[in-house]
Amino acid sequence: MHTPLTKLLAIQHPIIQAPLGSATTPELAAAVSNAGGLGMLALSWADPAQTRAQIRRTKALTDRPFGVNLVLAWDQRARVAVCADEGVAVVSFCWGDAAPFLAPLRAQGIAVCHTVGSADEAARCADQGVDFLVAQGWEAGGHVGGRVATSVLVPAVADRVALPVVAAGGIADGRGIVAALSLGAAGVWMGTRFLLAREAATSAVYRDAVARATENDTVYAPDLFHLGWEQAPHRVLRNSTVAAWERAGSPPPGRRPGEGQVLAHRADGSPVVRYSDDTPLAATTGDLEALALYAGQSAGLVHRIAGAADIVQDLVRQTEAVLARLTPLIQP
Ligand SMILES: Cc1cc2nc3c(=O)[nH]c(=O)nc-3n(C[C@H](O)[C@H](O)[C@H](O)COP(=O)(O)O)c2cc1C
Repeated sequence: MHTPLTKLLAIQHPIIQAPLGSATTPELAAAVSNAGGLGMLALSWADPAQTRAQIRRTKALTDRPFGVNLVLAWDQRARVAVCADEGVAVVSFCWGDAAPFLAPLRAQGIAVCHTVGSADEAARCADQGVDFLVAQGWEAGGHVGGRVATSVLVPAVADRVALPVVAAGGIADGRGIVAALSLGAAGVWMGTRFLLAREAATSAVYRDAVARATENDTVYAPDLFHLGWEQAPHRVLRNSTVAAWERAGSPPPGRRPGEGQVLAHRADGSPVVRYSDDTPLAATTGDLEALALYAGQSAGLVHRIAGAADIVQDLVRQTEAVLARLTPLIQP
């Protein structure tokens, strides 16, 4: 498959493994890039030394392009400097103003993208000079900036800007990839599917919950798992914490059931309380089911835990099969 995105990034398939907070690993990003897609590290909260170490570890595992995602709700100046210094292929931003970082990164030949939730936001980012855009629909897992479904957002953004647009939210298989391309996307950005990659740092409890979920099992919450990242709407699986909050009438922070309860501990021994924005990682211990299980509606479509390369190859095969099935429909 050749699209403006594969050309821009020098990748084989227009498939990007979305940043997944602390669940991304060098092993995950490198496996996706080695399979011909683009792997992404999510390093928003890593200190500069860890940022450099994770980039170098990924470089040791692949000589293909890969990217780094930085959420602009935090000060990213030091991490951007490390990315520029290390010369990663792509830096992706979201939740803030990337303007101060564009010139220095692009001067190093680094492609810059921004995640958007509306055509107006896309136009603003395009005017600033990003190289491509990620249009993230409301059905996406994790933190979600907009309120528009992918099926409407992608063509609205593609109509508005002349840049390559990458579709995010609800895309889990070859059918979704073909649909995204037909909506005007030059590629896809898939998060929930890669939560089930063996190389991701997700805990087994989390993976199994995603694998078992149906398309009805996620909840969009404006301010539920808010400790650590306030007023950032998100989509999670409905678990015991969400169900108890819903039974209590979905009260605002300060009146939710079980606030302050310690549910789990991180690898460094620090406590994770109920409503923290932490997601359960392989190294987290405790009541993992009750933590924030970020996932998109496409959890209802993904059931198989597999290696990341296997996932990419499967997606490519499925996409080709869908295209082969559709082609006869348009032949006379
Ligand atoms: C567990 C999890 C963590 C995420 N962390 C980030 C992040 O750190 N930065 C970011 O830009 N997007 C993050 N996202 C959003 C994804 O990049 C992507 O937009 C989304 O997963 C796409 O929708 P899908 O889940 O339906 O594939 C996260 C998503 C999930 C599920």
